[in-house]
Amino acid sequence: MKQSWILVLSAALAAPAAWAQAPQPNPAEAKKTFVADLVGRMTLEEKIGQLRLISIGPDMPIAQLADEITAGHVGGTFNSVNRPDNRRLQDAAMKTRLKIPMFFAYDVIHGHRTTFPIGLGLASTWDMASVERMARTAAREAAADSIDMTFAPMVDISRDPRWGRTSEGFGEDPYLVSQIARATVQGFQGPQRPLAADRIMASVKHFALYGAVEGGRDYNAVDMSPMRMYQDYLPPYKAAIDAGAGGVMVALNSINGVPATSNTWLMQDLLRRDWGFKGVTVSDHGAIVELTRHGVARDEREAAKLAIRAGIDMSMADSVYWKELPGLVRSGEVPMQQIDNAVTEVLGAKYDMGLFKNPYLRIGAAKDDPADLKADSRLDRPAAREVARQSLVLLENRNGTLPLSRKASIALVGPLADAPIDMLGSWSAAGYDKLAVTLRAGLNAAIGQGGRVTYARGANITGDEAIVKYLNFLNWDAPEVTQDPRTPAEMIQEAVRVAQQSDVIVAAVGEARGMSHESSSRTSLDLPQSQRDLITALKATGKPLVLVLMNGRPLALQREQKEADAILETWYAGTEGGNAISDVLFGDYNPSGKLPISFPRSVGQIPTYYNHARLGRPFTEGKPGNYTSQYFEEVTGPLYPFGYGLSYTDFALSDVVLSSPTMERGGQIEAAVTVRNTGRRAGETVVQLYIQDVAASVVRPVKELKGFRKLMLQPGEERVLRFPITEEQLKFFNARLEHVAEPGRFNVQIGLDSQAVREQGFELR
Ligand code: BGC
Repeated sequence: MKQSWILVLSAALAAPAAWAQAPQPNPAEAKKTFVADLVGRMTLEEKIGQLRLISIGPDMPIAQLADEITAGHVGGTFNSVNRPDNRRLQDAAMKTRLKIPMFFAYDVIHGHRTTFPIGLGLASTWDMASVERMARTAAREAAADSIDMTFAPMVDISRDPRWGRTSEGFGEDPYLVSQIARATVQGFQGPQRPLAADRIMASVKHFALYGAVEGGRDYNAVDMSPMRMYQDYLPPYKAAIDAGAGGVMVALNSINGVPATSNTWLMQDLLRRDWGFKGVTVSDHGAIVELTRHGVARDEREAAKLAIRAGIDMSMADSVYWKELPGLVRSGEVPMQQIDNAVTEVLGAKYDMGLFKNPYLRIGAAKDDPADLKADSRLDRPAAREVARQSLVLLENRNGTLPLSRKASIALVGPLADAPIDMLGSWSAAGYDKLAVTLRAGLNAAIGQGGRVTYARGANITGDEAIVKYLNFLNWDAPEVTQDPRTPAEMIQEAVRVAQQSDVIVAAVGEARGMSHESSSRTSLDLPQSQRDLITALKATGKPLVLVLMNGRPLALQREQKEADAILETWYAGTEGGNAISDVLFGDYNPSGKLPISFPRSVGQIPTYYNHARLGRPFTEGKPGNYTSQYFEEVTGPLYPFGYGLSYTDFALSDVVLSSPTMERGGQIEAAVTVRNTGRRAGETVVQLYIQDVAASVVRPVKELKGFRKLMLQPGEERVLRFPITEEQLKFFNARLEHVAEPGRFNVQIGLDSQAVREQGFELR
């Protein structure tokens, strides 16, 4: 960025004077003029039509949708994901008086045709180039399917793994999630404005605080102190907006008593005024009508009024704006200016998508339409595999159980060992399960001469038929959780027999993807009993036991930690998941993933986030004592902390060396640490920088992530890493919500996870 600025500047300096004086078209002004002119020529009905974002679906078949568009009742659509359909809809738009193009949106969350790991998996890479690669690849593929906008990134901080949508997000830490927010927006949108034909507009969601629903129960209310909001939950949305996200999707929840969808403070004061957001806002699915159920609107008319006044530009998946706004404008309850503001943003977004220059920019010509949308040749398998390998987190590895020998005979068991749909995870957009590599397929492809993989399912996902029914009732196209009709005992017997005849057991256990999804909150973080029984029976064989976990949230793994010799957390690793996991199991790739979220010991410990507040009576490991902050029935603190993950090699960190014991106001110091690969394999690790504010005007967290670096080291190689520390990184929101750094002592902590750190202090003067 900086470099290209310098190049532009030096080119300008070198240019002849006439060049400098020639009137330069200002892109922002050109857009403003274009949009204002168009708005000036629109009727009220045409304007309101633009505010309606509607989904193609059973209630709205394509022919009806096309008619609605031609009648000027629709501004954009979502869920149609092929060029012929969207061409037909765009043709319909071109029949309207002003020929204002449609845009086509879709949930492109962790890939499009190529499915990458779910959000938690992407975050586990701690590799922004990989995250950006996912978004760039997804944008290219979605744009090739005529999509202009995605409802992503989803950057809701989640500290409660009971919430099913934890899977979609990037974990618990504001700094890490903000970095990912930036990388995804850049990857989706690219640098060009209007967007290039192979990029799509990002709309960050769910604004705001959706991840803090009470009790982790989806759609529940959010109640939060302003300080926590500003400090911990809002930064990722802000980061996405600062990175240029063209859209914002508004959350379904209420915030301190006011639904986000009618929240003038959130949408106007914070988003537009304080943050300077210039882009389009869309409601979540049906959220405007839901204002009546929140009990803040007496009817849909009032709901529409509240939402448009709050600053919701487009209403998703309902007709409430279309039905109610004309009357509200005529009665003077909604000023025309408010409609103009909303329509200006919608048209501005279409301008930025490049659709006014070419409404068919991403639809292309019929002759170029792909013959088979689901063709394997449309996937970027190398990208999916490389990113997926990095997303796997090695939680345990006793006695060097892993990596496995290719000559080993492997008993592959578990309900997720051969489950293509679950490899994709939820919100896998246009991913196609038949193209997904299961663990079984991955191991079979990689096993060597003399080795063998024998499969037995061993258990169903759950023995609870009510849960199966619920999971199959979620809005999938077809039932996803299929039950083996054999009895649990029969299945376990078979698995044990296979295990006894093998050198090592690999058990793929966890959650069906629907268990970690929207509307899939849990009261337990345990593996379902059917799978626990399987693991216990496998353990009893005495064979080395490797658990390959597939799940979309931290699970409570105390029991499994004791039973297993090795545990690999794979989340839902995507199209190339099976190959990526095999790469790690056989040691072709040395695992480097780190947890972006803490794993509690039990559900009762939630929340277990690492950056919790300092306390008057903290629990101190080793000297617990009475009257300290703890649960007395089990060990206090997470089972696996934030930032944790093992490698097949070992790394040693030196003490932290600071360039100065003091920092002047506005100054900068440097923290240096030497990292050494002390093992016998090449490997990557993530060196993490945390800062603790020792004493401040308000209670501050025990520590906060402020930087990290992923690096590869050969055996015996060492490298000095230098982290700049600026006053900016010491800032926090004080009791008056001012963003300040207060003088005094700070501790710099550097480690390979959030717990095992080396520390050095300095003074801000
Ligand atoms: C979800 C959003 C999603 C939208 C459109 C809603 O149910 O909350 O995250 O983007 O549907 O599919």
